[in-house]
Amino acid sequence: MKTTLLALVFALGVRGDDADVDYAQFVNPFIGSEGAIAGYAYGGGDIFVGGAVPFGMVKLGLDTYELPVNQSALNGGWTPQGRVTGISLMHESGTGGGPKYGFPSQMPLVTIDSPVNLLDNLTYWQKRVGQDSARVGYFKTRLESGITVELSASRHAGLHQYTYPSPSEKHILVDFSHYLPHPTRSWDSQFYTGGEIEVQPNSSTYTGYTSIANGWCLGPPVTVYVCGEFNSPPDQARAFKGKNTFPVGRHFRSFDNATTPEPTFTGTNARSGPVADRVGAIFSWNDTNNSTTIRSRVGISFMSVEKACAYKNEELSWSIEDTAAAARAEWNRDVFSKIRVDTSQKANKTRLALLYSSLYFMHLIPSERVGENPLWESDEPYWDDFYTMWDLFRNQVSLWHLIQPSYYESMIRSLIDMFKHEGFLPDGRSGNYNGLVQGGSNADNVLADAFVKGLRGAINWTEGYAAVKKNAEVLPFFDQNPVDPQGSLKEGRSALDDWIPLGYVSADRNSRAVSKTVEYSLNDFAVSQIAAGISPGDRDLYLQRSSGWQRSWDTSATARNFSGFVMPRFANGTFHKTYNITNCGDCNWSDESYEGTAFEYSFVIPHDIERMIELMGGTAHFEQRLDYVFQPNTSGVDLGVNGLGITTINNVANEPDFQTPYLYNYLNKQWKSVERSRQLATDFYFNASNGIPGNSDAGALNCWLVWQMLGLYPVVTTPVYLLESPWFDDINVTVNHDKTLRIRALGLDDGDARQGFYVQNVSINGQTWNRNWFEHEDVMVDGGEIIFGLGSEKRVWETGHVPPSPGHSVVDVGDS
Ligand SMILES: *[C@@H]1O[C@H](CO)[C@@H](O)[C@H](O)[C@H]1NC(C)=O
Ligand SMILES: *[C@@H]1O[C@H](CO)[C@@H](O)[C@H](O)[C@H]1NC(C)=O
Ligand SMILES: *[C@@H]1O[C@H](CO)[C@@H](O)[C@H](O)[C@H]1NC(C)=O
Ligand SMILES: *[C@@H]1O[C@H](CO)[C@@H](O)[C@H](O)[C@H]1NC(C)=O
Ligand SMILES: *[C@@H]1O[C@H](CO)[C@@H](O)[C@H](O)[C@H]1NC(C)=O
Ligand SMILES: *[C@@H]1O[C@H](CO)[C@@H](O)[C@H](O)[C@H]1NC(C)=O
Ligand SMILES: *[C@@H]1O[C@H](CO)[C@@H](O)[C@H](O)[C@H]1NC(C)=O
Ligand SMILES: *[C@@H]1O[C@H](CO)[C@@H](O)[C@H](O)[C@H]1NC(C)=O
Ligand SMILES: *[C@@H]1O[C@H](CO)[C@@H](O)[C@H](O)[C@H]1NC(C)=O
Ligand SMILES: *[C@@H]1O[C@H](CO)[C@@H](O)[C@H](O)[C@H]1NC(C)=O
Ligand SMILES: *[C@@H]1O[C@H](CO)[C@@H](O)[C@H](O)[C@H]1NC(C)=O
Ligand SMILES: *[C@@H]1O[C@H](CO)[C@@H](O)[C@H](O)[C@H]1NC(C)=O
Repeated sequence: MKTTLLALVFALGVRGDDADVDYAQFVNPFIGSEGAIAGYAYGGGDIFVGGAVPFGMVKLGLDTYELPVNQSALNGGWTPQGRVTGISLMHESGTGGGPKYGFPSQMPLVTIDSPVNLLDNLTYWQKRVGQDSARVGYFKTRLESGITVELSASRHAGLHQYTYPSPSEKHILVDFSHYLPHPTRSWDSQFYTGGEIEVQPNSSTYTGYTSIANGWCLGPPVTVYVCGEFNSPPDQARAFKGKNTFPVGRHFRSFDNATTPEPTFTGTNARSGPVADRVGAIFSWNDTNNSTTIRSRVGISFMSVEKACAYKNEELSWSIEDTAAAARAEWNRDVFSKIRVDTSQKANKTRLALLYSSLYFMHLIPSERVGENPLWESDEPYWDDFYTMWDLFRNQVSLWHLIQPSYYESMIRSLIDMFKHEGFLPDGRSGNYNGLVQGGSNADNVLADAFVKGLRGAINWTEGYAAVKKNAEVLPFFDQNPVDPQGSLKEGRSALDDWIPLGYVSADRNSRAVSKTVEYSLNDFAVSQIAAGISPGDRDLYLQRSSGWQRSWDTSATARNFSGFVMPRFANGTFHKTYNITNCGDCNWSDESYEGTAFEYSFVIPHDIERMIELMGGTAHFEQRLDYVFQPNTSGVDLGVNGLGITTINNVANEPDFQTPYLYNYLNKQWKSVERSRQLATDFYFNASNGIPGNSDAGALNCWLVWQMLGLYPVVTTPVYLLESPWFDDINVTVNHDKTLRIRALGLDDGDARQGFYVQNVSINGQTWNRNWFEHEDVMVDGGEIIFGLGSEKRVWETGHVPPSPGHSVVDVGDS
């Protein structure tokens, strides 16, 4: 684009106006809060609902316990009908593994008389009355006790506002032994390992810490320092302790679980001591006659009580309105205004809700914890809650790269710093601990994607390369996770001892051989991409290893009249011939393929689609096979929570299949990619509580939808973007800090099921474009303009080269 100066002037002028647009009004913070069974969380998004800023360390929301447990999911804390057990500051969003966090908490009560037992949530938990309401940065509910709870948050602190009924007693329970439990199993449930609480002399302030261990990645105790304050001094403040009888974490349990313990009041402070006694405090106000609003500001820190207090004091006033307004302004400024579409009266409000809600949910985790690393001293930034790279690498990091370049650079520096101090990049990380690795070491893909698109800043790529090279070369220490006796789930690649000598992951020596082979292939391609710039002599080695999936390709494997699949292969070279290509069983840790069948994984070779097409018998056979996976009632698996309602082999609700609908671009039949992917988006995404088809996975599903609406799809680990078809006629995206990519869709006419969304022609920066893809430099560095001419004709408009296969190689699999 040569008219940069003019464009910049324009952009600045328009930005001034757009800064005032309140995009947050379009966000529906409940999308994904419910699953297919109305009124229950099961199979839904597992999203967080509450007050938070983008990537905030604090995500303040309800913790609930929903029954029956087989229709529940406590991961985000909030459930549609669960009883409130506490209100806590730390949460994940969208995660499908074991719950994590749900601490430190408060709980407002109108009585503490028997049968209420402060150590037994079942005696005081609360149903809610009416509908909860939530807006960006703000949450409100009413408990059956009559207490109205309003919540908002800053980056490291939360503001609780409790309005008590009149007349009523007024108490607030601070329970440092509260956390989100796993309702059905103990091995990866969190458990409490101790804490300490101290009520300050004026009784308005309490300080201390709580430590909660285990949970999803089986991490060590997470210690959080707490500093809470009430706006009106309580008349009574009593610390208490009690025996730890939680059924999980029995090594720390100080008593058997035969009796429910009662609290012992201990004055102004309570300490767990060596056997992890439970500690907390109860604050009471004597004015029972009048309706009273009590507010509480709570700061947290992983470093010290002093920091927790400083956050509370510096980040929060006592005004819930001001706090919510500040959070909302931050979301508008730093997230929503990065993608600007027409929001006037004539705009389609459903689409605005889908777009801005999707952006919201993809900015809740990871958690930005700069200055909050309790593990080592470093000048590098620190982040946590990468839950998980397996979800994020597919396309979410690529969108952060464009619209959050500062945060994204910070994340990458933090990942590399983890490698430097702990030895490995995380594939997942939460509670300051690496894990769980689902397949490959997918941080490799993340780093490569950033590297090839030119992200530099203060990232030390020498170290970045050393980090991915270690993943490629060094077998990680075996962490003895009970679900996988074969290798580490903590970090790295547990099957390198197969992968390096054999060139594939064998099915007899390793779990998840099919999916690991596919993932390791892309991982090594990613390593080769960084090697090309940092250590060119290594490039070919990793490029050669990235063809491992071909060594696991069984040309004679047949299913549904198609031949040739990535199959489980034994160390002796033979294939597992009776393996069921359309059914991976539980598709879990100990199976031969993880969360996807061999049928699906055979399409997941983004770096060498060219060879994949050859191995599937050439373009005609490939197209037939691709058509087939979108036909209803073809799936052979019960997808469970990873794809409720989906009956096709392609499971757009789960990450491995995210790119598959777009593969028609590689046949120069882009119109079919557009048709398929739009169909999937309109069939499975809605502005409704059950509006996403499964766990949102840290926002990965939401981000898939954002790309769909932009009319683009990034090919991860490469600088290539596929051209699809936008859902808005004019979109301005702020890329590379302050540049503008404008995407226009002339002739878009797709309302009320009309079909005017097929691409007729494309121009980029004023030039007619004959390829259905472009590269990062074309419009993402200096900005630029993509103009789609749309219409209802299913047109093969592209005459140029198909998208590249930069990892192309040919291993003889006996196919020719
Ligand atoms: C949960 O269990 C109840 C019986 O306790 C059953 O009626 C219900 O269908 C189950 N729900 C799911 C999602 O399996
Ligand atoms: C509440 O009590 C039940 C029963 O003791 C327990 O299973 C659960 O972990 C407790 N805590 C929460 C936050 O639900
Ligand atoms: C109570 O004491 C703390 C310091 O310990 C102080 O920060 C706070 O402002 C005091 N609150 C009131 C209401 O005096
Ligand atoms: C508040 O009530 C408690 C318990 O009844 C009593 O001990 C205390 O003196 C009261 N405080 C005030 C300021 O009235
Ligand atoms: C204590 O908890 C364990 C584990 O949940 C359970 O197996 C055992 O029956 C419980 N004991 C009693 C006395 O409730
Ligand atoms: C209750 O409110 C009334 C009217 O505002 C006031 O006169 C009274 O002092 C209040 N009572 C208490 C206990 O604060
Ligand atoms: C509440 O109101 C009753 C009746 O008016 C009065 O006797 C009592 O002292 C009041 N309590 C407080 C704490 O103000
Ligand atoms: C996008 O930016 C252009 C150029 O500044 C402006 O004319 C147009 O109105 C903007 N469109 C939207 C939807 O913001
Ligand atoms: C990058 O890291 C390497 C290895 O730790 C170090 O030698 C080098 O000085 C670093 N580069 C910069 C610019 O800090
Ligand atoms: C190869 O290994 C598999 C799995 O251990 C075994 O079932 C098969 O018999 C072996 N085949 C040959 C030819 O050794
Ligand atoms: C594979 O699983 C599908 C779905 O469960 C089943 O219908 C089919 O019979 C199985 N195929 C073989 C070869 O076992
Ligand atoms: C608005 O967008 C939704 C979602 O894409 C679509 O279903 C609906 O038809 C659109 N409405 C109009 C009037 O264009």
